[in-house]
Parts: sequence; C-alpha cells; structure tokens
Amino acid sequence: MKGLILAGGKGTRLRPITFSMAKQLVPVANKPVLFYGLEALAEAGIREVGIIVGDTAKEIEQAVGDGARWGLEVTYIPQPEPLGLAHAVLTAEPYLGTTPFLMYLGDNLLTGGVKSLVEAFEARRPNALILLAEVPNPQEFGVAQLEGERVVRLIEKPKEPPSNLALVGVYLFDSHIFEAARAIKPSWRGELEITDAIQYLIDQGYTVEWQKITGWWKDTGNLESLLEANRLVLEELPPRLQGTLEETEAFGRVSVGEGSVLRRCVVRGPAIIGANCLLEECYIGPFTAIGDGVRMRACEIEFSIVLEGSQIDSVEPRIEASLLGKNTLVRGGMRRPRTLRLMLGDSSSVEMP
Ligand code: TTP
Repeated sequence: MKGLILAGGKGTRLRPITFSMAKQLVPVANKPVLFYGLEALAEAGIREVGIIVGDTAKEIEQAVGDGARWGLEVTYIPQPEPLGLAHAVLTAEPYLGTTPFLMYLGDNLLTGGVKSLVEAFEARRPNALILLAEVPNPQEFGVAQLEGERVVRLIEKPKEPPSNLALVGVYLFDSHIFEAARAIKPSWRGELEITDAIQYLIDQGYTVEWQKITGWWKDTGNLESLLEANRLVLEELPPRLQGTLEETEAFGRVSVGEGSVLRRCVVRGPAIIGANCLLEECYIGPFTAIGDGVRMRACEIEFSIVLEGSQIDSVEPRIEASLLGKNTLVRGGMRRPRTLRLMLGDSSSVEMP
C-alpha cells in the first residue's frame, strides 16, 4: 500500500497566514500539522508516500525532505492547479499505478492513527474504505447517508444533512478510483470532488465500506478548528521543562524548550513554549502554543497559537482564541492619545473589546 498526502490547495480560509506559508505547516502544539499525518502513515506500516504539492511546494519540500526522518520514501507530485481532491488523485495516477493507497488530507488531524483502517482494507479488500465521524455541524462537511450498513449517498455540504456523519479526510482506494475521477464532472465550485468520485463507485456497484472514527478528528483549515486541534493535542502533551524558570509558577502540563527563560510568569497548562523564548511578567493560560524565539512581556494569553519570532509587549486585554503568524509584533503602552496603530496584511482580522 502507498500513501498519498494532499498538501496543495488554496488555504483561503486561513488567510492571511496562508499568504506567506503553507497551511499544512502551521504548527499544532509546535509541530506542523503535516507531520502528524506523516507519523500516522509511518506507524501504519506505509513506506512509500507521494505528497501532492501546489504553490507552496518549496516550503513543504524543505520541511519534509526525503521523509527518512519518519522512515518514509517521499515523492513530490506537483499539481498545476488546485482543481479538487479527485483531481489530485488523477494527478498522482502515474505515481500510484495499480497499488492501493491511503489518501490523507495534509491539514487533517485525528487520534488513533490509521493502522486499523489499513488492516481492515487489507483484510477485506473493498474498492474503497471511508472514515466517518459524528459532527454537530454536518452542513459544513461531506456527509454520508446510510441505509442499514451501506453508504448509499455522499453529499458535499448539504443544506439539509441526511445524517450527522461527516467524511473524515482519510480514504483508502484501489485503482478504480481513477476511473471514477475521470468519469465525474467539476462541481459548481469548479472542483473535481472526491465525494462525487466515491458516489460514482457506489452507483457502479463497487464496494465502498466505511468505519466510524473512535477518537477525535479535526480539519485544521480554519482558525476555529485549528485552535481546537491545538487544544486536543495539548491535552495529551507530556510535560518537559528544559528552559529556565525564574520566580515563575507553572501549573499542570507545561513544556518549555531549551534556552527559554520565563521570568515572573504564571503558566497554566496544558501549554507549550518553544526554544529560545523570553517571557517576562506574563500569564500563559491553558491551550496555548508559543513557537521558538518568541518574546513576550507584560501580557496575558490563552487558547492561542503564536508562531516563531513574534513579539507581544505590554498588551492590556488578555489575548484569546488568536493566531499570530511568524515575526508579528503586537505592542501596547500608555501613549497619549490612546490610539490604535495597525499595519495588517490582506485578510487580517482584529477584534477589539
Ligand atoms: P481543502 O481544505 O478542502 O481546500 P483548500 O486547501 O483549497 O482550502 P480553502 O477551502 O481554505 O481554500 O483541502 C484539503 C486538503 O487537500 C488540504 O491539505 C489542501 C489539499 N488540496 C490539494 O492538495 N489539492 C486540491 O486541489 C485541493 C482542493 C486541496
């Protein structure tokens, strides 16, 4: 079995972060989302992995390299345009050939890995095996309609969902999926949808099996779910104190990287602080991930992600549910008049108290 990770796409829902970086490399608990997927594939015994790349190919290649770190052999497959998940499958056909494969969306995160899924596929050899998760907001996902034990219909973002079972971003296919992807037409949004391709398999009488996910699953493609994924990963974070804590109280599971100094701070875990950070007189609340080389002074933050090299200085209201890109600066102070000075990238958003 081969692996196919999709790391192209447009990433519009995570703008402005995705103007300057691949969304699959946005860190969750200080590790790029994509790495969780690579780990899951390696753990399931998959060795050969193709990665679909788009505009951010260089960055992805630089981060992942040849895959040896995970014991994988990685091949990069450029997709000229992000024309849909089924288009990505067709783009990978020369690489995949007739080998069955596990397709994994590079911005998805799930607990429990994919090993049991691979084993179930190998044991029964259906034409496709899909993964479903119960969600409270099925309107936002591809949704499965079941009849008894059979999937009869898949609908992309239905206004009136026939169930609360969403299609998780992990799929196993044999080579009939190429026939399906060739047979379908682009959807209203101009993409070749994987749901349509799977529907084709169902309609042609191919076997499409499903499994329900046991743990949690998040598609990190928007801010809300990215923060949720960060929270869920941090919940399981092993504490590891490597930096220096001076007059600092750390409660719960807290991880601090090498070379970091925390002075007169209060940290309530679960939280992770990267290497070479300097934090003074700060409150770091639960579910916060601070990247390497961040400097913070006189501020409070929780349930947030701060990327490497950023600075937060003398900010009065607590920063919450926020995502700060690399090398950003947020600075407060008592200057009169009390004005706001902003230099925001396109599609930035600021919410004031
Ligand atoms: P999506 O999140 O569905 O699409 P997107 O990346 O274009 O994001 P947005 O909706 O915010 O604009 O894609 C899921 C994963 O698949 C993600 O890792 C990107 C990848 N992908 C491709 O590799 N090729 C494609 O053609 C598409 C549509 C997505």
